[in-house]
Amino acid sequence: MKVTKICCIGAGYVGGPTMAIIAQKCPQIQVTVVDLNAERIAAWNDEDVNNIPIYEPGLSEIVKEARGRNLFFSTEVDAAIDAADMIFISVNTPTKTYGKGKGMAADLKYIELCARQIARVSKSNKIVVEKSTLPVRTAEAIKSILDNTGNGVKFQILSNPEFLAEGTAVQDLLQPDRILIGGDTTEEGQKAIQALVEVYANWVPENKILTTNVWSSELSKLTANAFLAQRISSINAMSELCEKTGADVNEVARAIGMDSRIGPKFLKASVGFGGSCFQKDILNLVYIAKSYGLHEVADYWEQVIIMNDHQKRRFSGNIVKTLYNTVSDKKIAFLGWAFKKDTNDTRESAAIYVADDLINENATLAIYDPKVSHKKVLADLDYLETRATSVNAERVQSFGNPYQACEGAHAVAVLTEWDEFVTYDWQKIYEAMQKPAFVFDGRNILDKTSLEKIGFVYQAIGS
Ligand code: NAD
Ligand code: UGA
Repeated sequence: MKVTKICCIGAGYVGGPTMAIIAQKCPQIQVTVVDLNAERIAAWNDEDVNNIPIYEPGLSEIVKEARGRNLFFSTEVDAAIDAADMIFISVNTPTKTYGKGKGMAADLKYIELCARQIARVSKSNKIVVEKSTLPVRTAEAIKSILDNTGNGVKFQILSNPEFLAEGTAVQDLLQPDRILIGGDTTEEGQKAIQALVEVYANWVPENKILTTNVWSSELSKLTANAFLAQRISSINAMSELCEKTGADVNEVARAIGMDSRIGPKFLKASVGFGGSCFQKDILNLVYIAKSYGLHEVADYWEQVIIMNDHQKRRFSGNIVKTLYNTVSDKKIAFLGWAFKKDTNDTRESAAIYVADDLINENATLAIYDPKVSHKKVLADLDYLETRATSVNAERVQSFGNPYQACEGAHAVAVLTEWDEFVTYDWQKIYEAMQKPAFVFDGRNILDKTSLEKIGFVYQAIGS
C-alpha cells in the first residue's frame, strides 16, 4: 500500500517538526497536522515563519519550504482523519495528576480520545501510528477501541516512537540513528509496517530502519530514555563525590568516556536533567514494573529520579550556603531558564526548581534567557503552586539583556548551557555586581581560570 495522505494529531514539539520533515522529504505525500489548540495552529500558520510556536534551529526554513505545498496545519481534526490513509498520534502523555497511579503512571486520556475520534470518523481502512511515548501494551487498548466501532473499517496499529532531542530536532530527524517500527506479525501487520518503512525510506537508509513487534517497540522507547537519564544521574552522583575528594568531574567523564564500551556522550554533569520526558517516562517505567510486582526493577529505576531531584536541591542549597547562609533579599541572576540550550521549552527545567528553592529563602531573582519570556517564567513557577502568584511576580523579574540581569546581583547562576553565555564580557558583569561576586555554574561551561582572574568566586558542579 502506498501512503498518499498523512494526518498527524498533535502539533507539538514532536508532531510539528516530525511532520515538517516528512513533508519536506516526501513531496508526493500530503501531510496535515491537526490540533485542538487553535492558538498553536494559528502560530504554525503565521505568515511570518519566524513566529511558528516551536523554536528549533533550521525548522522555520523547512516549514517555509513545505507549508502550503504538501504541509498543512489545521484545527479540523475530523476532516483530516477522514481523508488520511495513515494517522500519527502525537499527543501529550503527561504523568497522571489524579486517581490510581497519580504522580507515576502516564495519563492516556488524550490517546484514548484520539482513538475514539478515529473510530468515530473513519469510513475507510487506516494505519494508526503511535508516535507518542506510551506504556508497553498501549496498542492493545487502542486496538480494542478501534475494533469495536461496528462500521467495518479495518485498522492496523504501528508503534513508531520518536527519538529526537529538542534543540537538535531537525538534525535528529534528517539523520536519525535509527527508525523503529513495531507492528503485528500477521500479514496485514507486515504490510502496514512496509507502508511506513517506505515513507521513511525517502531519506533514511534502509539499514537504519528497524522493525520489531509492537511491544518491543513501545518498551524500547521507555528503555532508551531510562538509559540516557541514568547516565546523567550516574555522572551527577559522581559530581558530588568529586566535590568532596578533589577529583574533577569533567576529567573523570573524559577518562571513562574514552572507554569505547562507555562512550563519551551524555556524561556532562549538570544541575540535573529537565525536559518533558525523562522524568515522566521513568516514572511510567517504575509504575509499570510495580504493576507487574517487579519491585527491585522499579526501585532500581526510581533511583535515577531520586538522584536528579537531589542534584537540583543540592545546587540551590549550595548557593544559599556559600552566600553566608542567607539569600534573603539578595539578588541572584539566572542565566538560562530553558531545560537545555537551543530550545524555548522549559518543561521540568531544573531552573524552575532552583528558583523555587531560592524564593522560599526570600531571594529576588533576575532572569535572562534568550528564548524564554517572562510570562513563561512566571507560569512555570505558578504551576508549582508553592506560593501566591503575586509573590512570584514580586520576587522574579526578567530582562531582555544579560548585563541588566546581572546588575547589582550578589551571584550569577548558570542554569542552561546556551553558547552565548561563554562569550559575554565577564569583566563588565563583574564590575556591575555586588562584591564578592559569585558564579555558580550549573552547566560547567565557563572558564574557571579566567573568571577567577577577574575576581569572581567561581563554583562549578563536580569540582
Ligand atoms: P506537546 O504537548 O508539545 O504537544 C501535544 C499536542 O497534542 C498539544 O498541542 C495538544 O493540544 C495536542 N492534543 C492533545 N490531545 C489532542 C486531541 N485529542 N486532538 C488534537 N490535538 C490534541 O507534546 P510533545 O512534546 O510533542 O510530546 C508528544 C509525545 O511525544 C509525548 O508522548 C512525548 O513523550 C513524546 N516525545 C516527546 C519528545 C520531545 O522532545 N518533546 C521527544 C520524543 C517523544
Ligand atoms: C531526550 C532524549 O535525548 C531523546 O532521545 C528523546 O526522544 C526525548 O528525550 C524524549 O523522549 O522526549 P530531550 O529531553 O529533548 O531529549 O533532550 P536531551 O538532550 O536528552 O537533554 C535532556 C536533559 O538532560 C537536559 O536538561 C540536558 O541539559 C540534560 N543533560 C543531557 C545533562 O545534564 N547532561 C548530559 O550529558 C546530557
